[in-house]
Amino acid sequence: MTDITSQTEAALLAIAAADSLDMLEAQRLETLGKKGWVSLALKTLGGMTPEERTAAAPAIQSARASVAGALEAKKAALEAAELEAQLAREAIDLTLPAQAAHKGSVHPVSQVMDELAEIFADLGFAVATGPEIEDDWHNFTALNMDETHPARAMHDTFYFPDKTGDGKDVLLRTHTSPVQIRSMLAQGAPLRLIAPGRVYRSDSDATHTPMFHQVEGLVIDRDIHLGHLKWTLETFFKAFFEREDIVLRLRPSYFPFTEPSVEVDVGYSTEGGRRIVGGHGDAPGHAWMEIGGSGMVNVRVLEFAGVDPAEYQGFAFGLGIDRIAMLKYGMNDLRAFFDGDGRWLAHYGFSPFDQPTLSAGVGARA
Ligand code: DAH
Repeated sequence: MTDITSQTEAALLAIAAADSLDMLEAQRLETLGKKGWVSLALKTLGGMTPEERTAAAPAIQSARASVAGALEAKKAALEAAELEAQLAREAIDLTLPAQAAHKGSVHPVSQVMDELAEIFADLGFAVATGPEIEDDWHNFTALNMDETHPARAMHDTFYFPDKTGDGKDVLLRTHTSPVQIRSMLAQGAPLRLIAPGRVYRSDSDATHTPMFHQVEGLVIDRDIHLGHLKWTLETFFKAFFEREDIVLRLRPSYFPFTEPSVEVDVGYSTEGGRRIVGGHGDAPGHAWMEIGGSGMVNVRVLEFAGVDPAEYQGFAFGLGIDRIAMLKYGMNDLRAFFDGDGRWLAHYGFSPFDQPTLSAGVGARA
């Protein structure tokens, strides 16, 4: 009797002291488990006489009841504490301000390509494309640069180890000019197109990256002359920079695929430390900046591309897209274009809803 009372007291103390569900389970096994002392005590009732049983049973039953009650209460308490702890661990601070995640934006290069397409579409130019993996013939030979031509050395070309089926070198196109050849071969004359896209040269510093962007322009028709070229470029740059005071200077130059060839400079202001396009390059506080090459399409190129030079002639131009994007949007490090830095993109990128249109302004920021 005293035995059961003291055993019960000890068990209740141990249950109260259990500070984990594991410890509590150990207590349950020691008491109510198959071999626990309460269960063993209950079993002894079967071997007793009715009188003995009547005397012993109440103490054993009440020990069982109080131990079971204590176990149950402690279990509930430990589970509640565990839940509390978990809720505290997983707490969300609802007072934090909602953070607007950067949703992605249109890269300035893509935006400028869209602006180019919009402006030139208004002048009747289609957009043409060609492969970035080119062959030697389209990238060089058909543009009047045969194997021994010194101008080839100016293009630090990435070559592939394999050759085409007919033994030509395979390379990453070094300019968008091969699209001229492909378009003339595919469509014949007359035609009017721009070809924006990626080009590759093994070159890398603050102003050169191994991949950059150009836009090629090509107009083939009857009676085309340099005046058409100058007007077209002037009209384009006025629309692109959204100002009337664009002054272009055409400087005699040399490209194998044009004859005559001119380099195109645009006047800009140097005041205020930032380059602002506009004005005459020789005016005070102004200078000229080269923005591209151009010229009348070389007769040899027309012949390579299957266009009859007796009937047709044309002009072509090539502009650096990254460079005109930097000029228009005031960016000064070309490498940032290709870093993929979210902060740069958040600052210089465009909303997808900011579609360039001539009526709303090709460069308007939403
Ligand atoms: N393809 C030349 C380059 O990458 C640029 C160029 C110059 C393109 C004159 C032309 C052109 O169409 O007429 O350096």
